[in-house]
Amino acid sequence: MDIEIRQATVEDIPEITTLFRDTIREVNSKHYSDKQIQTWADGANDTQKWEDRINRLYFLVAESHNTIVGFAYLKNCNYFDGLFVHKDFQRQGIASKLLRIIESKVMMDGFEKIKSDVSITALPFFEDHYYDVIKKQKKILKGITFENYVVSKTL
Ligand SMILES: CC(C)(COP(=O)(O)OP(=O)(O)OC[C@H]1O[C@@H](n2cnc3c(N)ncnc32)[C@H](O)[C@@H]1OP(=O)(O)O)[C@@H](O)C(=O)NCCC(=O)NCCS
Repeated sequence: MDIEIRQATVEDIPEITTLFRDTIREVNSKHYSDKQIQTWADGANDTQKWEDRINRLYFLVAESHNTIVGFAYLKNCNYFDGLFVHKDFQRQGIASKLLRIIESKVMMDGFEKIKSDVSITALPFFEDHYYDVIKKQKKILKGITFENYVVSKTL
């Protein structure tokens, strides 16, 4: 599969937010309740927040034949905040490609560690990439509690 990785632009917002919403509804729904899924997926509607992320963070998209099939972004230099792959393109190595570039960027910026908060759904992926679980935690989003994991890796 031909995948091109590039920095996101604000023109990508409609595709990014559709991917985000659909992946949460189809993929994360295996591990979270309907209420949690609805609250999380509603984050797609906050266009201003996505614009700020694209303008301020290191934000990558993976593209195949002009379709965005995944995205990832890095916050505060070594805090990996978002990684989503299109619901129809799961398990094709797209997240691994994005992760490799994100980790390279963290190393080039002079950090030895990368940290992330990851969903129950994404934990096997991060374990497969040698991340250690620091703790299981509860995170509150718009009054709804979510279980996730804090993970880290020495690069
Ligand atoms: C987690 C996620 C980003 C992984 O993306 P992906 O492109 O499917 O991952 P890859 O194809 O690069 O996976 C590489 C390896 O990770 C492991 N892995 C990935 N997903 C897995 C799963 N659901 N269960 C078990 N192992 C998994 C496997 O070892 C896999 O290799 P294999 O397919 O050869 O067995 C994707 O499933 C996703 O978008 N999840 C929903 C969004 C999410 O929860 N993101 C994190 C938010 S904090």
